[in-house]
Amino acid sequence: MPRTLLVLNGPNLNLLGSREPATYGHETLADIQALCCRTGDALDLNIEFQQTNHEGQLIDWIHQARGRVAGIVINPAAWTHTSVAIRDALVASEVPVIEVHLSNVHKREEFRHHSFVSGIAVGVICGLGSNGYRMAIEHFAHLLKA
Ligand code: DQA
Repeated sequence: MPRTLLVLNGPNLNLLGSREPATYGHETLADIQALCCRTGDALDLNIEFQQTNHEGQLIDWIHQARGRVAGIVINPAAWTHTSVAIRDALVASEVPVIEVHLSNVHKREEFRHHSFVSGIAVGVICGLGSNGYRMAIEHFAHLLKA
């Protein structure tokens, strides 16, 4: 298995930096991508980083991950709470998944407390901002060593 991780981001995350900074902070998605790539470089992991506002596009990327990447780090954003299709695609890919959220979704509105992805993920990190992405990549490096 190649030492490649796919880092996927769902809708509205392209607006990070200006979107609800009190909730999501001031870092942009480009800042998070740079952090992921730096983390990957230090661990000898190749990082593919993507964001889309189109659910079908995200599903296509998940399908293409099958047999090609060692793990998926995903912030499905609002689709976390709505999409059986993304959960099904992740299961079909047979690639291990770590779910990440910048904010602590459990401290927020009730509709954010349920995730369609958590039940099929290796683990879930939320509320730690961009650090959650770094930790997810480090955990995959740890799993690959084992
Ligand atoms: C989010 C939390 C989701 O509830 C929300 O819809 C997002 C971002 C987060 O990273 O905290 O868009 O996934």
